[in-house]
Amino acid sequence: MRSVEVNLGSRAYPIRIGRALLGQGELLLPYLKTRKAVIVSNEVVAPLYADTLQSALEAVGVKATRIVLPDGEAHKDWPALNQIFDALLSQHAERSTTLIALGGGVTGDITGFAAATYQRGMPFIQIPTTLLAQVDSSVGGKTAINHPLGKNMIGAFYQPRLVLADIATLDTLPDRELKAGLAEVIKYGLIRDLPFFEWLEANMDALLARDPAALTYAVERSCENKAEVVIADETEQGERATLNLGHTFGHAIETGLGYGVWLHGEAIAAGTIMALDLSRRLGWLRDEDVERATRLFVRAGLPVRGPALGADRYIALMRHDKKVAEGKLRLILLKALGRAVIDGSASDQAIAAAIEAHCE
Ligand code: NAD
Ligand code: GLY
Repeated sequence: MRSVEVNLGSRAYPIRIGRALLGQGELLLPYLKTRKAVIVSNEVVAPLYADTLQSALEAVGVKATRIVLPDGEAHKDWPALNQIFDALLSQHAERSTTLIALGGGVTGDITGFAAATYQRGMPFIQIPTTLLAQVDSSVGGKTAINHPLGKNMIGAFYQPRLVLADIATLDTLPDRELKAGLAEVIKYGLIRDLPFFEWLEANMDALLARDPAALTYAVERSCENKAEVVIADETEQGERATLNLGHTFGHAIETGLGYGVWLHGEAIAAGTIMALDLSRRLGWLRDEDVERATRLFVRAGLPVRGPALGADRYIALMRHDKKVAEGKLRLILLKALGRAVIDGSASDQAIAAAIEAHCE
């Protein structure tokens, strides 16, 4: 088992990474406040893994119940959040009961927000079961639900007490979801870790073949990168925003098409190429840098062109982004491969040109 520490003082927590961790209740026990837990999962993941987790908890004397939500990004919303609150209240869950998210980023984000707000905050553990959730969404304490007008618009910063990334759960992940997770892995290489980008170029085939050692390294290195950024800037006053490379463009795709039509990672892949092309138009990246990054996304089986929503619609949707400050759109761009910046200087014309050049 590998371990990465998120050193946030009194809110510090470990990320445990390995195979078959789900059945080891003793890994969870030190992070529960009492011997009561509620597992929140969804209708796809619960039948696969909730029994193993529940039995492991019961084996160490923890009474665990479960809440099963509908599946999908379209259900990262108020009704699903209320379903959690209704169940917690009807089960008389206490403030000291631990909420455990078992699933992908949708489950983690909504469960985290429920934990942040139920009785003003209850202990929370993340057990991510998608690659995307293991490398990104389960770490760092961003929790949220979507609003019809914008992704992740309602939420809170609320750190988990433990992240348990069981690589074996990826065995059942559909190929399309595995590839979507690779978009966030590639992101770390592009924004701050050129050696990792090079490692991904050398190991993409192994990752797609689900080689356990390659997957474990990719999760561990991604979590190390994310932990360093979150420790430096927990509430996104600056550097943390660089984790959103491609996200402003990508969120426009997700919101514009309707949540769940494109997977989050797919939208981020196409959005990242738009951001890289804009960086090239600003004179920071060379043609060959954009081509090199494009090749890696293509090898990962990810889209590098967005849907034809029209540049005006993209830009209108992008204006709902949380990085908008005093009405000005700020984007994450690259000064070089491995070096991200937050930039508000790009004109709408340049942004539109980068979008148009990478749309169907
Ligand atoms: P997801 O949670 O919808 O999971 C993808 C699909 O895989 C779902 O159908 C799910 O039921 C299924 N699934 C999950 N684990 C499985 C397994 N082991 N085997 C088989 N099927 C499995 O999507 P996601 O890609 O994990 O997460 C995307 C969400 O994460 C978005 O809402 C995005 O906004 C959010 N996100 C949050 C952060 C953050 O910092 N909080 C960061 C990145 C993304
Ligand atoms: N996924 C972006 C962040 O956690 O800040």
